Amino acid sequence: MKILITGAKGQVGTEVVAQAIKRGHDVQGFGSKNLDISNAEQVNNTVQQIPPDVIINAAAYTSVDKAETEQEMAYAVNSQGSENLAKVCKQYNIPLLHISTDYVYDGEKQTPYIETDTPIPTGVYGASKLEGDQKIEQLWHKHIILRVSWVFGEHGNNFVKSMLRLAEQRDELSIVNDQFAAPTSAQAISSRLLDILEDRQFNQASCTWGIYNLQSDPGVTWYDFAQEIFTQTQQLGLINKTMKLNPIPSSQFPTPVKRPANSKLDGKKLQQYFELLPVDWKADLKVMLESINTPII
Ligand SMILES: NC(=O)c1ccc[n+]([C@@H]2O[C@H](COP(=O)([O-])OP(=O)(O)OC[C@H]3O[C@@H](n4cnc5c(N)ncnc54)[C@H](OP(=O)(O)O)[C@@H]3O)[C@@H](O)[C@H]2O)c1
Repeated sequence: MKILITGAKGQVGTEVVAQAIKRGHDVQGFGSKNLDISNAEQVNNTVQQIPPDVIINAAAYTSVDKAETEQEMAYAVNSQGSENLAKVCKQYNIPLLHISTDYVYDGEKQTPYIETDTPIPTGVYGASKLEGDQKIEQLWHKHIILRVSWVFGEHGNNFVKSMLRLAEQRDELSIVNDQFAAPTSAQAISSRLLDILEDRQFNQASCTWGIYNLQSDPGVTWYDFAQEIFTQTQQLGLINKTMKLNPIPSSQFPTPVKRPANSKLDGKKLQQYFELLPVDWKADLKVMLESINTPII
């Protein structure tokens, strides 16, 4: 398949480009410098020149806290950018695969979120992402919106890399222990996106378009996640010291945006319609850490 991938230099974008090439697809990957999704003219010209069989939108404005002061930019990319892609997809009859976030929810639900739960974002990032999802839903029915949580991977910035960097400087860390969700690897998100577009019902009349959650297991807090990172790094011989981790409430680590207390995603719908099971983030973390060949400390 000829796949146009936006945001090709991001955590997920880099991974999905690599995996799509490995699976034998004709991949046209664009970083933000070559294709700015907030620019409708650029989007139209690029799609017209290629034109692809499917578009994967891995581009987004993803700075959760900075979005509070860069509201215009967040909406330009996450809302206007999604609208531009949905419109051009409709014009050329191209299915659109898009990535959304658990931060569209306020986190007050006691059980995992399902696709029909009402989103109530707590900040600009979540609100701009939600508006993008809604624009796609309104404008072009041939879409799959995959909601994911807490992305990590080899490329770009993420919590795993922050922990490894901090371990070089400190022996003790305080980590928030009252926000519950699940880390999800860029590798798992990419393979699920490609599994969906390779599914025999994809783009057939029988295809069930819409929003899907990607469930990653087990659910944990950031503190649990940090513990697992340091357990695995020690087992792999990457860190030659024991890190002392202190669990703290979010109130002791104030951020401009309040994060959801619970944003665990339920993935039964993805299993029902595409036979895709929840992913195991601990196994993916091991693969990521094994790719670091030299000890960190
Ligand atoms: N990161 C997370 O924890 C998380 C959690 C839940 C959901 N998600 C969602 O997962 C998806 C992938 O996120 P990620 O973690 O891979 O993010 P990322 O590493 O920040 O990558 C996003 C990419 O989008 C590009 N981009 C920004 N503005 C653009 C524009 N106007 N036009 C084209 N490209 C643009 C960025 O390029 P530049 O660097 O050049 O600006 C960057 O390479 C996003 O939809 C995000 O909302 C992420």
